[in-house]
Amino acid sequence: RIKGAIFDLDGVIVDTAKYHYLAWKWLADQRGIPFTEHDNERLKGVSRMRSLDIILEIGGLTLSDEEKEEMATRKNELYLEYIRRMDESEILPGAKEYILTLRDKGVRIALGSASKNAVFILERVGLSELFDAIIDGTKVSKAKPDPEVFLVACESLDLSPEDCAVFEDAAAGVEAAKAAGIYVIGIGSTDVLGDADEIVAGLHELVS
Ligand code: G6P
Ligand code: MG
Repeated sequence: RIKGAIFDLDGVIVDTAKYHYLAWKWLADQRGIPFTEHDNERLKGVSRMRSLDIILEIGGLTLSDEEKEEMATRKNELYLEYIRRMDESEILPGAKEYILTLRDKGVRIALGSASKNAVFILERVGLSELFDAIIDGTKVSKAKPDPEVFLVACESLDLSPEDCAVFEDAAAGVEAAKAAGIYVIGIGSTDVLGDADEIVAGLHELVS
């Protein structure tokens, strides 16, 4: 029986991957970079800057740090245009119900996300109150697959990794959870999440 549940945000609680994609796609088009939805899979779970590096690599482009900084800022402005309009209808099926069920059982709830927009999104969709701890891209410096975000989440819940479970939709996130020594439930398909301890299509499958 677990005492703490740590949730990734993008792709687990809300489907923001489509907005990340649209924002990056617009910038990639501007630069003539052939960026596809298939490529987008590699961006899941990794930091904003690392995402940009992957896109530039696809386009075979090298930019100065200053230009990269500018592009990342522009991407976030575009992304904010999308997430500003989010509301509770964009919570993925079963996510809120499952978190409520766990809370009823006394399980402590944390967020473990790479996003610097996590708090804003949780507020937009009205879920921030359900979290005992929120660890996001503003609180940690090492991005997934580094285990830092999940280890800090365990610490914030005052629990050891063995007493927790992580819910993740990205390969980098599954790797991070494993490296932290935490049981990981993959959300999505087996071809991306092969290393997870368990895989379900979505949190709705876990609501009884
Ligand atoms: C999540 C997403 C990534 C995104 C990262 C940073 O992990 O899965 O695709 O790059 O957050 O998000 P941010 O909102 O800080 O740009
Ligand atoms: Mg994710």
